[in-house]
Amino acid sequence: MLGKYGSGILSVLILLSLQLFVGGDYIPPAKLDGFVYNNRHFNFDTIQIEAFYDPLCPDSADSWPPLKKALDHYAARVSFVVHLLPLPYHDNAFVASRALHIVNALNRSATFPLLESFFKYQAAFFGAPTRNLSRASIVEDIVKFATYVVGKSYETSIRNGFNETNSDIQTRVSFKYAASRGVSGTPFFYVNGFLLPDTGNAINYSTWRNVIDPLIGAKESVKNDETPHYLL
Ligand SMILES: *[C@@H]1O[C@H](CO)[C@@H](O)[C@H](O)[C@H]1NC(C)=O
Ligand SMILES: *[C@@H]1O[C@H](CO)[C@@H](O)[C@H](O)[C@H]1NC(C)=O
Ligand SMILES: *[C@@H]1O[C@H](CO)[C@@H](O)[C@H](O)[C@H]1NC(C)=O
Ligand SMILES: *[C@@H]1O[C@H](CO)[C@@H](O)[C@H](O)[C@H]1NC(C)=O
Repeated sequence: MLGKYGSGILSVLILLSLQLFVGGDYIPPAKLDGFVYNNRHFNFDTIQIEAFYDPLCPDSADSWPPLKKALDHYAARVSFVVHLLPLPYHDNAFVASRALHIVNALNRSATFPLLESFFKYQAAFFGAPTRNLSRASIVEDIVKFATYVVGKSYETSIRNGFNETNSDIQTRVSFKYAASRGVSGTPFFYVNGFLLPDTGNAINYSTWRNVIDPLIGAKESVKNDETPHYLL
């Protein structure tokens, strides 16, 4: 018999183990959060841009074309990572974000095409058009949508992905990661680890050039400066 105190201790233990289950078992995650663009991984010779995006956020969608143009302009000199922040006030953002994690696990190259498709057709997935739909039918719509983008052969895997805890955990990790960086809206941009002002708005191509050009210039002049020092 446990007795009066024994059962008290037991319920404390149960509470503690519940608490662990609720978050402690996947923070910190085994892998750093984020989707790397075009395999351009961070290293100390690149300028690193990070975007916090919600796939169903209109401002995130507006900000992507000029940023993509800038990334294409700078090519390997700039690395880029997208972190997802499904916002609670964008209906179905968590389901859409989960679809991105599922697809990323199936075929990493399909992640950005799917994100772009969400940006393009996002109006169908939040607000009035979905107000009367059940959670299950929204999941099914998003499974169909993602399948259409990444290929018929993935349909069953995508549907199963919504039944597996892994994609749920990864999407929670994305949310928690954004919270840990102090991000409370989308789009937010970090350049070499520092927040760009003007967050929550789309940044146009010329502004991206004005932000990145001087950094690349500074890097190059540091390199040139170093040569004489080594020769001394
Ligand atoms: C992965 O996705 C990319 C981009 O959509 C596609 O070109 C490629 O064929 C896919 N790979 C497989 C194995 O399905
Ligand atoms: C949602 O359901 C309500 C009540 O049945 C109905 O009045 C409304 O028109 C429906 N809205 C849409 C977008 O289908
Ligand atoms: C998802 O899991 C539930 C309960 O385990 C099961 O009834 C359902 O058939 C599963 N759906 C799919 C698509 O695997
Ligand atoms: C880009 O954005 C900046 C800052 O908001 C603005 O001053 C500038 O006029 C814009 N440029 C173009 C080409 O829209």
